[in-house]
Amino acid sequence: MDPDKKEITTLNVFCLGKGPVGSNLVDQILDTGFEVELRRKVRVKVFGVADSRYYIFDKSGVTGNWRAELASGKHRNDLDEIVQRICELDLENVVIADNTASQEVTDRYPDFLKEGFNIVASNKKLNSGPYEKYHQIRALLDKKGKLFYYEANVGAGLPVIDTIKQLKDAGDSITRIRGIFSGSLSYLFNTFSDTDRSFSDVLLEARKKGLTEADPREDLSGLDVARKLIILSREIGLKSNLEDVKVQNLIPEALRDKINLNSFLKEREVLDDHYKAIQQNLKEKKVLRYVGDLDVELRELKVSLIEVSRDSLMGNIKGTDSIFELNTKDYGEQPIVIQGAGAGGKVTARGVYSDLVRIGRASL
Ligand SMILES: NC(=O)c1ccc[n+]([C@@H]2O[C@H](COP(=O)([O-])OP(=O)(O)OC[C@H]3O[C@@H](n4cnc5c(N)ncnc54)[C@H](OP(=O)(O)O)[C@@H]3O)[C@@H](O)[C@H]2O)c1
Repeated sequence: MDPDKKEITTLNVFCLGKGPVGSNLVDQILDTGFEVELRRKVRVKVFGVADSRYYIFDKSGVTGNWRAELASGKHRNDLDEIVQRICELDLENVVIADNTASQEVTDRYPDFLKEGFNIVASNKKLNSGPYEKYHQIRALLDKKGKLFYYEANVGAGLPVIDTIKQLKDAGDSITRIRGIFSGSLSYLFNTFSDTDRSFSDVLLEARKKGLTEADPREDLSGLDVARKLIILSREIGLKSNLEDVKVQNLIPEALRDKINLNSFLKEREVLDDHYKAIQQNLKEKKVLRYVGDLDVELRELKVSLIEVSRDSLMGNIKGTDSIFELNTKDYGEQPIVIQGAGAGGKVTARGVYSDLVRIGRASL
């Protein structure tokens, strides 16, 4: 046995964000940390948690009471103060887990790296933001020898980024990625295509179930799907930006200037008529799907509502499932298919957790 090899490695994790993803992550670590340590030789210790208002800090690790402690508001969130306090502790293997959707947090990544912290993120703002900034952070990561994992950026807990990396590492090349990347829009069109209900009725039901953003127009704009397409395209080496994606906005033009959700919903008839007409024009045995498509050779990135055969892979998906079809040079015509829950705090947190363990394994 290599005498320098450690028996066990400890990761010291500061979690930013306590939404469905962040709070599940902290709970999963507290609940299953022991098993992970036993099996993977990685001890994951959460020594701090922050939301947008407050933070808690406990060098020996937060406990199951973390929510109440955070809510008690002992320390106001201040990223400078948090970074300084982490540095003062002089801990080994510090990881910042960014489970926010905040640009402000993304903008602090250079500071985190300069202080020697690693990063895991479900937040997709860096990887889908301006290419120049993305590139600078990659260069800084190399320079500092730090790790940044973000599997949860595109397929929640599904192993999409990792599969692409493995294919690339083995010298294969991706020729096309196509699929349904949004759990909420998957639900919307799967349900709409299978019932006689109006589009707005299904939309409001999805919102009530917490599947869409509070303002579902954010989902309908297609921006989130476009962001995922950019992340995938950069993963295979394209220097793409959001402006390069042709996005079909799912909000009918007549409703795009509505300033708030109420005024938008007041005219839901326009929305319903729009989608009823599309539905009625569908050919037999076809269903609607909102599909992201990256054609590597043509360097074409688009997100659009298309009709697919009901018995195709995409036509068959149910509920909030996402599906990613990866075509590669060696796999030929038949794609590698990754399918499953494309959203949800629990599965997404598992994706982040597995990124943490990967960082721990790398420092064994
Ligand atoms: N939910 C999913 O199914 C899913 C799937 C894949 C990827 N994602 C991505 O994962 C990330 C987290 O998702 P979520 O659903 O948990 O988000 P969320 O419900 O919007 O929660 C975001 C959390 O970030 C906190 N926050 C905002 N600014 C902060 C700051 N400056 N410092 C510390 N905390 C800050 C918020 O604080 P407050 O509580 O004080 O508001 C909140 O707790 C998002 O980027 C999302 O796009 C989510």
